[in-house]
Amino acid sequence: MKPGRTRIEASTATTMTIDGTTHLAFAGTNFLGLAHHPDVHEAVRATLATCGLSASASRETSGNFAAHERLEESLAEVLGGEAALLVPDGWLANVALFEAFAGEIRCTILDADSHPALWHAARQIDGRLLDYGSGDLMRAHALADRYVDEHMVIATDGVFPRQGRYAELGQLLRMLPPTGLCVVDDSHGLGLIGTGGRGTAHGHGLRDPRIVITASLAKSLGATGGVIAGSAATIERVRRRSETYAGTTPIPPAVAAGAVAALDVLIREPARVERLKANASSLNRLLRRLDLRPPGHTVPQVHLPVDEALGQTLIEHLERAGIFVPFRGYGGGAARPIIAVNAEHKAADLTRLEEALREGLEA
Ligand SMILES: Cc1ncc(COP(=O)(O)O)c(C=O)c1O
Repeated sequence: MKPGRTRIEASTATTMTIDGTTHLAFAGTNFLGLAHHPDVHEAVRATLATCGLSASASRETSGNFAAHERLEESLAEVLGGEAALLVPDGWLANVALFEAFAGEIRCTILDADSHPALWHAARQIDGRLLDYGSGDLMRAHALADRYVDEHMVIATDGVFPRQGRYAELGQLLRMLPPTGLCVVDDSHGLGLIGTGGRGTAHGHGLRDPRIVITASLAKSLGATGGVIAGSAATIERVRRRSETYAGTTPIPPAVAAGAVAALDVLIREPARVERLKANASSLNRLLRRLDLRPPGHTVPQVHLPVDEALGQTLIEHLERAGIFVPFRGYGGGAARPIIAVNAEHKAADLTRLEEALREGLEA
């Protein structure tokens, strides 16, 4: 397999069919297996039948369905915000949020490893943009002291999958003036961190009106869409000021209903999050046995620390063993195998993965 895009013909939580062959897959961000949960599918089918395929209009005209509002209520509750607003995807959640504060934010202090979506969003507004390196809190502190401004923003991912790092939210909040905002892209924290996977802020026991959470619904919730959750005033502001929100068609009502069902499963089955964590630990242990463990916290998606040639050999052995793992580089960098476990993988699946990787390393 060459680095890059693969054509998937069908999938389950743990398999992908490519060129007519079904592979055991360690791929993607459907971390809790909810994209294939029967309750989710039932909700999608029922809403598809009553609402059609598309909202066919923006929310503020005739595209606002009950399912969208239900999903916003559910997301606000799970993420611990007073309110939440849906946008078409997680990237746009960051864009819409910053857009709503354009002209007001004079300084954004950003973790250097933040997702490109957060960088992109912060760059689109006038104002100073400074990074504090990879979680360098001393540097963040120095920048916050030097450029303190009532509308200052500190922005970070909640969980950095590539670095295996979690944001130090409590410490970042302490640097922020009372009227500032702490923007947390928690796309990878939702479904993983905090009791029942309620995210990074919950995991730190933080409820603060200065925290605004953005997230993709295409990761642990197995759906599609983006959300901004925070204080009622912030959410209302985004609703009134963001053209990205106002000028786009929302996710289909059926998908919104599916995401509501996914959140119900998340709340009802905290054991699912524990299974994800256990599988992430097993993956990290097996990679350590093979000397392939990157430094950092345990995360369910791991970018193998190997050069492209070894990556290619490993991918070929995985393929021969009937295992699909994506192989790609970011930002023009070398391609690497990206292995992801989810809550539905069984011990035997991980054993098969370990054997194929070991054969690749010994080849
Ligand atoms: C941290 C983070 N933020 C935002 C996004 C974008 O989300 P979406 O794919 O829903 O646009 C991603 C997706 O890779 C992500 O990992």
